[in-house]
Amino acid sequence: GSESRLQLIHRHIRAFPDFPNTGILFRDICPILKDPAALTAVIDLFEEHVRKNYKQVDLIVGLDARGFLFGPLLAQRLCVGFVLVRKKGKLPGATVSVAYNLEYGKAEAEIQEDAVAPGQKVLIIDDLLATGGTLYAACELMKKQQAEVLGCMVVIELKELNGFERLKPHSVFSLVKY
Ligand code: PRP
Ligand code: ADE
Repeated sequence: GSESRLQLIHRHIRAFPDFPNTGILFRDICPILKDPAALTAVIDLFEEHVRKNYKQVDLIVGLDARGFLFGPLLAQRLCVGFVLVRKKGKLPGATVSVAYNLEYGKAEAEIQEDAVAPGQKVLIIDDLLATGGTLYAACELMKKQQAEVLGCMVVIELKELNGFERLKPHSVFSLVKY
């Protein structure tokens, strides 16, 4: 069709004022998941970006909870594994954790100690970049495990919150910017 993939994705993002707190404009990606063509467009664009920019990727690392929706689909396309960064207390066995702040609260991110090996090259994926607190925490976890962060990928970037700056020197690839 004549509609671009980015237009298609854009059309499947909704905004809800004052959720979960007053003053937050919540960007909802649920309509993307509900539409196979929109979801395919997201994963296609991510895959094209990875193939164009990285020679070797060992793992995709996804963030709790909405990074879990896109990460495994991309990992399967690239024939690599997927690793979960979860909110504290959800993962069994030995774990490593870091505390962080996000646009509307704070939390603690955790991975299993054996999830990534030193020297592995990883891409971190989430649905949305706001202040960057969440992705920054994931980068810190990778650093603790001596993995190499190749870059971060999100469907949506909220420009005015400057998450991009916070994540430097790591790069952030985003599909839709507000
Ligand atoms: C949201 C979103 C990102 C994060 C972005 O997750 O999915 O992970 O906030 O905000 P930041 O850039 O300011 O850190 P949330 O913690 O609400 O969790 P959820 O995915 O479980 O809903
Ligand atoms: N996570 C942090 N800020 C958000 C927003 N404005 N919409 C959706 N998810 C978010």
